[in-house]
Amino acid sequence: MCKYKPISEKYPHFLHGGDYNPDQWLNYPKILDEDIRLMKLANWNVVSLGIFAWAALEPEEGKYQFECLDRIMDKLYDNGIYVILATPSAAPPAWLVDKYPEVARVDSNRVRHLFGGRQNHCFTSPIYREKVRSINRKLAERYKDHPALIAWHVSNEYGNDCHCDLCQEAFRNWLKKKYDNDIKRLNHEWWSHFWSHTFTDWSQIQTPSPHGETTIHGLNLDYKRFVTDQTIDFFKNEIAPLKELTPNIPITTNFMGTFPGLNYWKFAKHLDVISWDSYPTWHGNEEDWVVAYKTAFVHDINRSLKGGQPFMLMESTPSVTNWQPVSKLKRPGMHVLSSIQAVAHGADTVQYFQWRKSRGGFEKFHGAVVDHCGHENTRVFKDVKEVGEILKRLDPIIGTSVKPEVAIIYDWENSWAIEDAKGPRQEKKDYLLTCQSNYRPFWSKGITVDVIDMESDFNRYKLLIAPMLYMLKDGVAERIKQFVKNGGTFVTTYLSGIVNENDLCYLGGFPGPLKEILGIWSEEIDALHDKDENCVAFDEDNELGISGEYKAKELCEIIHLEGAKALAKYKEDFYVGFPAVTVNSYGEGKAYYIAFRNNDDFVDDFYGKIIELLNIKRSIDIDLPIGVTAQLRTDGNRQFIFLLNFTDEEKALDLKDIEYIDIVDNGILSGKVVLPPYGFKIIEKRN
Ligand code: GLA
Ligand code: ZN
Repeated sequence: MCKYKPISEKYPHFLHGGDYNPDQWLNYPKILDEDIRLMKLANWNVVSLGIFAWAALEPEEGKYQFECLDRIMDKLYDNGIYVILATPSAAPPAWLVDKYPEVARVDSNRVRHLFGGRQNHCFTSPIYREKVRSINRKLAERYKDHPALIAWHVSNEYGNDCHCDLCQEAFRNWLKKKYDNDIKRLNHEWWSHFWSHTFTDWSQIQTPSPHGETTIHGLNLDYKRFVTDQTIDFFKNEIAPLKELTPNIPITTNFMGTFPGLNYWKFAKHLDVISWDSYPTWHGNEEDWVVAYKTAFVHDINRSLKGGQPFMLMESTPSVTNWQPVSKLKRPGMHVLSSIQAVAHGADTVQYFQWRKSRGGFEKFHGAVVDHCGHENTRVFKDVKEVGEILKRLDPIIGTSVKPEVAIIYDWENSWAIEDAKGPRQEKKDYLLTCQSNYRPFWSKGITVDVIDMESDFNRYKLLIAPMLYMLKDGVAERIKQFVKNGGTFVTTYLSGIVNENDLCYLGGFPGPLKEILGIWSEEIDALHDKDENCVAFDEDNELGISGEYKAKELCEIIHLEGAKALAKYKEDFYVGFPAVTVNSYGEGKAYYIAFRNNDDFVDDFYGKIIELLNIKRSIDIDLPIGVTAQLRTDGNRQFIFLLNFTDEEKALDLKDIEYIDIVDNGILSGKVVLPPYGFKIIEKRN
């Protein structure tokens, strides 16, 4: 393993900064100088500029006004602050929507929207695409050689679809291409003879609508795929002038974690660097360390999206959001800790929304580095400054990554299919939660994990975990077989191998094409009411050496052995004695099946044994108390270990007699080390 390049060679250090919206403050001429004074004080070295500045940059059609932006870019650069320049397509100016109503999006109720909000545009409209291309070209022409420009921030949080006539047409064309112009094939794949929904002409097909079609799952799935493809197509139109005029400036757009509306795996291929906006609800109904591992899971997706390439934490809040149900303040330590958490999982930047609180409007109470008081003597400002100070000491970590031995599949299209399915439960389908629950034992033991989709390469891992792999696309089972044959260990669960990529059930017994490798047949699935539970007990002398009994809830599959061995069985109900955990040897490897939904104690014990058996490496070979994790970044030679305490209590660790260097304060650590509440250490073994 080696190092990735820094995001920009112009500034090969950690980027620290965030959204800067000076276009809101044009009536306050002195504020730019004050902003720059404060940014330097806050250890900022980058801003994301002009994200919603279209109205300021093009106040009238074709009349561009860049002088102000020139001045801002120059001043920032003169003061050592770089610019991630935005394209403003997320929010068009009023004149544009007024003059060309077709650019406004039409929602699934077929209502054409009025001017307002953001991401409220059609993604097909040739006029909108042309207007976006024009302003983007102007920006690229004007700033292509500006020394401050280090990256492009394209649009903002893409995430809306459109159902206008142009989009209907585009969808039909997409379908014609997918089904080779064969409407009979479409009818078969969509199973549309059901309820007499057979289509006899392409023109009859409409995008899903609450007062129209929502019951053809194949259509719903294809529509979601179309939305991803059409968004990417819109994005490609946006970036054409940027790529042409600034081929060496990296391009990103800010993702939103596990936002269900877009398949980020498809999108990622078109970005030079991944960035995402992270807003965990700290100090809420869940314990902080639970929020922490769920957030870690999403950071790991973002690192995995480009095979381990460091990503950007494009947005996080310096204090609170204004949209969570309760906007609780971050407790002392949490701001720094959660920023370092992103770095621990592969971020090469820590950025915020936003620099200065808006004086009015929708986000006037959203946390910002500079509050309405306007000065630096605030707790939040000090926290931000401290993050900047720490990042300055992390130069050797830039471009480092990690090569985990474990991967968990979290697949967007699979999640669409699970959410859409009627049954076996309408509530608590919990695909994401189940993936996160399978991730938790690794996080708790300080084992790094990639979070991938079903089309990723499996061969680089020792252990592949695919919870609820309901949809199995063509070829995936074959790739899993190959992986296990060659010595890999595969774990999957109930509700796997049920449908193909168009949501048609596999015939011939579940888990469909995974039957052979798992050596089982799943005959029925019992959905339990919330008040119900079953119990699963491990057999004596089972090869994992687990002896406990575990609660089964919500979903229990009734399976038969067809070559596999049972490790544990149900203890109750009419399927008492049926296998609940199985293992099948296949080639050089093994495939495990977990037939029931379980709790933390089960995943802890089960994966605890698998980790032991496979001798999976931890980031550091020490015991970690509950709520503390260890993560790793390496260039293949130097190993940077992040110890993170997500509890409000001191936690003692025993580093034994090995000596480590504390990367932040250069101290030497060994033996007993105490992490303060919400405290952390970044350490490297001393030579
Ligand atoms: C998103 C947006 C920002 C801002 C924040 C508020 O992430 O990209 O413009 O609205 O939410 O949390
Ligand atoms: Zn449209």
